[in-house]
Amino acid sequence: MSIAVTGATGNVGGRVARLLADEGVTQLLVARDPGKLPDLPNATKVRGADYSDKAGVQSALTGADTLLLVSARESANRVQEHTTAIDAAIAAGVSRIVYLSFLGAAPECTFTFGRDHWHTEQYLRSTGVPFVALRDSMYNSGFPAMTGQDGVLRGPAGDGAVSAVSLDDIAEVAARVLRDNAFDGQVLDVTGPEAITVAEAARLLSEVTGREITYHAETEAEAYESRAHYGAPEFEVAGWVTSYTAIAAGELGVVSDTVPRLTGHPAQSVAEFLRTNPDSYAHLLA
Ligand SMILES: NC(=O)c1ccc[n+]([C@@H]2O[C@H](COP(=O)([O-])OP(=O)(O)OC[C@H]3O[C@@H](n4cnc5c(N)ncnc54)[C@H](OP(=O)(O)O)[C@@H]3O)[C@@H](O)[C@H]2O)c1
Repeated sequence: MSIAVTGATGNVGGRVARLLADEGVTQLLVARDPGKLPDLPNATKVRGADYSDKAGVQSALTGADTLLLVSARESANRVQEHTTAIDAAIAAGVSRIVYLSFLGAAPECTFTFGRDHWHTEQYLRSTGVPFVALRDSMYNSGFPAMTGQDGVLRGPAGDGAVSAVSLDDIAEVAARVLRDNAFDGQVLDVTGPEAITVAEAARLLSEVTGREITYHAETEAEAYESRAHYGAPEFEVAGWVTSYTAIAAGELGVVSDTVPRLTGHPAQSVAEFLRTNPDSYAHLLA
């Protein structure tokens, strides 16, 4: 069995590649710049292409039978990028695809980027290729990452809760389903062990940093205003803001048993993540 791992220069793909290497799995690591790929045993580095380049992706994936398709960086035409990459994979002879989706993916879900994932899942289903969609929740590393230097975690999440999950757990689940076709045809929610509010996350951050971290529940208008200075395109700012309004709407509070069921250990909580990853909040220490 040869597994191709896209996004292997990134958070999820990189972790999956290391786990597969530890298991002695033969893999193709695909990146637009192979020089950025890790050196791993039984892994061949392959020059990939942007997902929108069908010929380039097809050539990169030739020889692989199972593919981890890490979703593309958010763009205005991400669904088309994904469908092109899927077509390329099938043309290259890939016979199973594990796709990194997002919790609550639906055609009208509040989180605008989640809609891209739903359309991609629909396309995968229409091709008939065996696939697994891993609908991961928000990363628990997102809480410290989204907290400003001023110690304020801002967003229009209201009192909603999110079942934030660790990257390590997502990767472990992905590595399991890549090696085991028992999950083919399933859509799996990949979440942490509980749903916590953003205010609770701020409290946990206060504990580990030793300074007061607060949550400011922005209005939606405030959220667009406070992010305007980044000068990002409209679709991107909408994705940032709606990641919080989706929490407020209760769409990211689902807790699943996927992590314990597939890995044999409990899913990591936000508290445990912060305790074991001080680097994640180093920018908040004076
Ligand atoms: N659950 C969450 O909280 C959360 C948070 C952020 C993002 N995400 C989504 O989950 C995906 C994976 O997350 P991550 O944390 O592993 O992201 P990451 O660290 O940014 O890695 C993304 C990887 O995908 C590759 N990639 C991105 N766009 C591509 C394209 N158009 N064509 C080909 N390769 C492309 C990148 O390759 P290069 O090295 O060639 O750039 C990189 O290796 C992200 O792309 C995003 O869609 C989820």
